[in-house]
Amino acid sequence: MNKPTRQPPNASSTGIKGLVFDEPLLFEMGSPGRIAYSLPKYDVPEVELEAILPTAEIRDPIANFPELSELDVVRHFTRLSQWNFSIDTNFYPLGSCTMKYNPKVNNEMAALPGFAQHHPYTPEALSQGSLQLMFELQEYLKEISGMAHVSLQPAAGAQGELTGMLMIHAYHASQGTQRKKVILPDSAHGTNPATASLCGYSVIQIQSDERGLIDPNKLESMMDEETAAIMLTNPNTLGIFETDILKITEIVHNKGGLVYCDGANLNAVMGKTKMRAMGVDVLHFNLHKTFSTPHGGGGPGAGPVGIVDKLEPFLPKPVIEHTGGKYVLNRDRPDSIGKMKAFYGNFGILVRAYTYIRSLGPEGIKQVAEMAVLNANYIKASLDEHYHLPYNGPSLHECVFNDKRQLKNKVSTMDIAKMLIDYGFHPPTIYFPLIVKGALMIEPTETESKETLDKFIRTMKDIAKLAETKPEIFHDSPRMPVVSRLDEITAARNPKLKWKPEGLESKAT
Ligand SMILES: Cc1ncc(COP(=O)(O)O)c(C=O)c1O
Repeated sequence: MNKPTRQPPNASSTGIKGLVFDEPLLFEMGSPGRIAYSLPKYDVPEVELEAILPTAEIRDPIANFPELSELDVVRHFTRLSQWNFSIDTNFYPLGSCTMKYNPKVNNEMAALPGFAQHHPYTPEALSQGSLQLMFELQEYLKEISGMAHVSLQPAAGAQGELTGMLMIHAYHASQGTQRKKVILPDSAHGTNPATASLCGYSVIQIQSDERGLIDPNKLESMMDEETAAIMLTNPNTLGIFETDILKITEIVHNKGGLVYCDGANLNAVMGKTKMRAMGVDVLHFNLHKTFSTPHGGGGPGAGPVGIVDKLEPFLPKPVIEHTGGKYVLNRDRPDSIGKMKAFYGNFGILVRAYTYIRSLGPEGIKQVAEMAVLNANYIKASLDEHYHLPYNGPSLHECVFNDKRQLKNKVSTMDIAKMLIDYGFHPPTIYFPLIVKGALMIEPTETESKETLDKFIRTMKDIAKLAETKPEIFHDSPRMPVVSRLDEITAARNPKLKWKPEGLESKAT
């Protein structure tokens, strides 16, 4: 029988009243002969399997295979689904990941049979609607970023980076030079150096200054004609705008280098300014962050990439074009870096982004950035007396605290994150960016109401107080979810993936 097993750590302050049930595996449930279907009596003679199939093709019966009713199965999976945390259940302030609410109309549009059941091998002449949607989405992304061309192929931000850097590589090769280095700030997301080295470049790190920004003088001393590009993020992973961006892009261009901008933080600036105006040559968009598609669990996503004119010959092929009143896929692209993704990218994500942009319009897009920045600054100003802010300059859509104050009582960022789970919130991004020791990176996004932000702020203040008054209770949190504190290294290195029935020496190995 299911029994409630967990209690909130601090029942009076959490206000959590729901029950979380233990859930057995399907293999531990059921009763012999129970079934989940009822079919009419056979109207053909029954035959033995052996009479119609070769013995080698007949599977042995599976020992202890569960026999269940439809209700057993429905309740099992419904209860499991209730163990999940999602943006639809509560606040998900995952910094750098922009976990905003995803309006349901986006899903409805992606589920329209004309889109969802459109086979990618359908001839172009019969695919005009889908091609038009993709073409127009490219136009919107060009308008938002100021970039001259956009490819929708990449399936994630990281693949957008790879696509962009391959085009940079192809461009330098076409100039008869093969540059060897890429400069990256130490605040960069891990995918940036990984991408640069995957393209064969040595990664040269530039240390952020005391503002958390790139120092143009330092960059000038590092930039040379062996350097293919700088890969930066603006606003950077501290949520701070690179105020010297015009100087930075000029320094790089003066030596013949190109500027790659990681656009994962576009939520902070879209509709307010254009990346091209800052001298950016290549930009990737994370549609599954900025343009509302939910992400997590490895995908699916979409990381379109925008470029300046001089990189146009290298775009991944096919390129969607609009000529003579028709949408066509141009495959005749001799200098293209090739195909980056099967067919035309993750089409369902493109439909969602298109719907999102069309529903908001230019004014709505601008308001998104304004609200995202306002919300982050409200949290920052409300918590700065309680948590240490290692970089205290003006920030945009996210703010990065750390555990410096709480560590005095041996309460770490990990403890704070786990305690937040007991209060019903998803933890923020932790221990990133790497330049902040014990980072707690909070990004509320524009979709959260003041009530939600206030509840989160109250909780964070409560947690700061508990860290001073009852630091010992942190070590057992989270208590509320089905799985409490894991030994994360053992879980990653030694996962228990097999189940054995009761009575055998171990249940799970
Ligand atoms: C700043 C930044 N750049 C790049 C990426 C990579 O994007 P994706 O996860 O879509 O590959 C992320 C993802 O979290 C990010 O936060």
